[in-house]
Amino acid sequence: MGERPRILVTQKVPQAAYPLLEEVGEVDANMQEGLIWSPEELLSHSVGHDYIFSLLTDTIDARFLETCAASTPRLKLVANMAVGFNNIDVTVATRLGIAVSNTPGVLSDTTADLAFGLLLATARRIPEAERYLRAGKYTGWGPLLFTGAEVHHATLGVIGAGRIGKIMAKRASGFEMRVLYYNRNRLPAEEEQRYNMTYVLLDELLQQSDFVSIHTPYTADTHHLIGARELAQMKPSAILINTARGPIVDEKALVQALQQGKIAGAGLDVFEREPAVEPELLTMEQVVLLPHIASASLQTRSLMATMAAQNIVAHIRGQRPPNILNPEVLV
Ligand code: DGY
Repeated sequence: MGERPRILVTQKVPQAAYPLLEEVGEVDANMQEGLIWSPEELLSHSVGHDYIFSLLTDTIDARFLETCAASTPRLKLVANMAVGFNNIDVTVATRLGIAVSNTPGVLSDTTADLAFGLLLATARRIPEAERYLRAGKYTGWGPLLFTGAEVHHATLGVIGAGRIGKIMAKRASGFEMRVLYYNRNRLPAEEEQRYNMTYVLLDELLQQSDFVSIHTPYTADTHHLIGARELAQMKPSAILINTARGPIVDEKALVQALQQGKIAGAGLDVFEREPAVEPELLTMEQVVLLPHIASASLQTRSLMATMAAQNIVAHIRGQRPPNILNPEVLV
């Protein structure tokens, strides 16, 4: 029997992944919770592995891929435990014959739940009101105390009508919201009807929506999709929600729009230079900030870890990894 393949898990992940990987290979793992290797550390740990189980905080760029492709054994697959894969240069991986996989689907409901929670929290000023109470400032019910924005019957603009965007529309239907959407490709009429979503161009969505929620992947095309021009088109009472990727929004332009009252608030789970946050945002009461936790339920993270591991297992067994992003490397 030949040597067992070497697998590297770059961060501590839900337990479910390890037995699956240990059955098919020799597993090296960073087991220190919260420790994210620097790009240099990541590269030096990765060289000499057939498989990398990666996270969205790992920069898998051209230099990384070229070095790992030239090492012995050669890197065969990067299995990202995330639906987003903007941390990986898939074009270079494909050129080098390295497979890349992600974890779509299993986190869609959980992510939409959080996005809707963030919308409610921002509209109804829940974190701000809680901070006030904990600070001992609550002296009695007040007719003007923490009056916020109405969510039911309001208009929600969904940017990106993929799996998560559509589920967001379903969540909104419980609040009897009107849902507009903008997507690169218009949905088939049957889907528009099923999700009660009305297609509009981006400018119209921005002008008409009370809440704008971003659910599009981050690519060169969506970099700063929401910048000063777009924010200026939104209603002064509108709230922006981002649970997708930080750089889709020009964060400095967002700060200015909030300071100038061009929009009323923002709920952000992701940031342009994550984990850094524009300092001004930290001081704004009308902004709700979360540390990229949209998919963070125990069950969902476990499913994501299992899915990433299953892609590695399939490749080792000579099968097609179920969530491969560049199947052309398999031929
Ligand atoms: C993803 O999967 O891309 C999310 O950002 C983290 O779950």
